[in-house]
Amino acid sequence: MDMTDIANVLFGAEDIRDRVRDIASAITQDYEGRSPILVGVLKGSSLFLSDLIRDIQLPVRIDFMSISSFDGGAEKSGRVRIVKDIDQDIGNQDVILVEDIVDTGLTASYLLSTLQSRAPRSLEVCTLLDKSVRRIAPLQIRYRGFDCPDRFVIGYGLDLQEMFRNLPDILAVEDLAGLAANPSLVSMSPQEMKS
Ligand code: IMP
Ligand code: MG
Repeated sequence: MDMTDIANVLFGAEDIRDRVRDIASAITQDYEGRSPILVGVLKGSSLFLSDLIRDIQLPVRIDFMSISSFDGGAEKSGRVRIVKDIDQDIGNQDVILVEDIVDTGLTASYLLSTLQSRAPRSLEVCTLLDKSVRRIAPLQIRYRGFDCPDRFVIGYGLDLQEMFRNLPDILAVEDLAGLAANPSLVSMSPQEMKS
């Protein structure tokens, strides 16, 4: 079976790196003289967050939240349970919620209202991917890497059944069942995948 029947590169590692640098310099400018707290949502945003902070020239702080959806229904209800909360008090602090992807927007909206209730000085959203055509909950996104087509994507933190987070590129999956059945099909080098 041809690799391209299974998944294809949508955003390559070099394009991702360029966008991450752009976002980091925007944050560096916008928060000059301040020390924002970047809150990553585990696990998907961990790669994005770790690359992003290395390009931000400010004394940033980081924190993480881990959530689980009720009945696998985060996409439908937006109701999520906080499994791990952030450690820091964000009262009167500048907070940036860092997401891998905003899809319906329900998860981010829930997290924003939770964080907002703690009275931060400011609160913004930074997402690598914005599947804007799928939005249900209107959301202001201050920093966005790429607008993402309505496709299932994997790589650079994004998973299918917890796999493929380590791929350096972001791939659109053409055949979800085929990939789930044979994960090794895309667990090879980016060069091999493109051929
Ligand atoms: P929401 O629909 O905006 O609430 O997004 C919920 C979550 O679904 C995101 O944080 C991702 O973890 C996950 N998700 C949405 N689209 C994709 C995708 O294409 N690939 C992998 N995970 C996704
Ligand atoms: Mg996520």
